[in-house]
Amino acid sequence: MEGNSQYNNPVKATLTGITNLFKSKERVGELKESDRLDGKKVLITGSSSGLGLASAKQLASLGAEVIMAVRSGIPEKGEEVKKASGSEKIQMLYVDLLDFNSIKDLVEQVKGKIGPLDVVICNAGIVAGKARKTKDGLEEMFMVNYVSSFYFLRLLLAQNLIKKNDPASRIVIVDSESHRDPKAFNWDDFGKFKEHKIGQTVSLYGYYKLLLVTFAHELSRRLNDEQTTVSVFSLCPGPVNSNIAREAPAIFQPLLKLVFSLFFRSPEKAAEPVLYMSASADLNNKSWDYMFLMERKNVDPKATEQANGVKLWNLSNELITSLGYPIGD
Ligand SMILES: NC(=O)c1ccc[n+]([C@@H]2O[C@H](COP(=O)([O-])OP(=O)(O)OC[C@H]3O[C@@H](n4cnc5c(N)ncnc54)[C@H](OP(=O)(O)O)[C@@H]3O)[C@@H](O)[C@H]2O)c1
Repeated sequence: MEGNSQYNNPVKATLTGITNLFKSKERVGELKESDRLDGKKVLITGSSSGLGLASAKQLASLGAEVIMAVRSGIPEKGEEVKKASGSEKIQMLYVDLLDFNSIKDLVEQVKGKIGPLDVVICNAGIVAGKARKTKDGLEEMFMVNYVSSFYFLRLLLAQNLIKKNDPASRIVIVDSESHRDPKAFNWDDFGKFKEHKIGQTVSLYGYYKLLLVTFAHELSRRLNDEQTTVSVFSLCPGPVNSNIAREAPAIFQPLLKLVFSLFFRSPEKAAEPVLYMSASADLNNKSWDYMFLMERKNVDPKATEQANGVKLWNLSNELITSLGYPIGD
């Protein structure tokens, strides 16, 4: 998991992010005026802050009924979204993605209050200052950045709460270019709690983003074998001036705030690929796509190798079953 050294410490990761911003070239396209989300139900996690909050505002402006699945900011962030978009079609549902029971409860709330979703955006993510255990004994970053999305999406799909066979239904997963950093999967350690301090955090973050994008690709393969039933897309928004570095040591905070505000993109601007992947008719019926900013890219080859996707799927199933949260296939 040491990586190829572009993202394996916070300073290199920041510099790589900024350099990549300037390297990005060919745009996949633009949202058109006709790309509206009127009548569509769009759920987005982590929409109390940063990229998720900015995306929620713009999704609402495109006419979507936006379901903000959050653990903080109820109701004030929802009011902020209403004010910014002029839309009243905003609902807020509580979820703590560190807790399987809370995710299960979110799915029950979707079932009871919302009904089948057109677009689900898994956006929440953390960079933890140090290793912490969830009540199930998992490492928090592993749970929020990977396992929670696996569990949430699988539960939604098992209960038919994501529309299928509609050319515009989508699952959009917010990943990171840092998924390219790990050299290999470490299957032997899968799910095992690992101590880490801020120095190793960025490497682990990249590793969990590799797991996430590998799952996204495998999910697409399973859902869209012969024809597209639900599009599965993933993206990296590039460096975003958000609260993602909130757990960095206090001594670095002023410097990070300065670098973020000078070189990173505003959440409003960074939301462009989230909006495009959620609403563009150009992507109707497409089964799989990955974008960095507005550029189409291939993900790391490890993530698209079928043997890795299958292995990850099986290990994730075994893990959640062993913890007492089986989904069943
Ligand atoms: N910022 C970047 O440069 C960058 C670059 C590439 C990819 N990304 C990805 O972009 C996504 C959004 O991050 P951001 O930059 O917008 O960071 P952010 O401002 O820190 O937002 C993260 C969001 O995730 C939520 N979240 C964290 N833990 C949660 C939990 N246990 N349960 C429910 N929600 C939880 C946070 O909720 P609370 O506010 O309640 O904690 C917050 O709404 C992440 O997936 C991140 O990995 C960011």
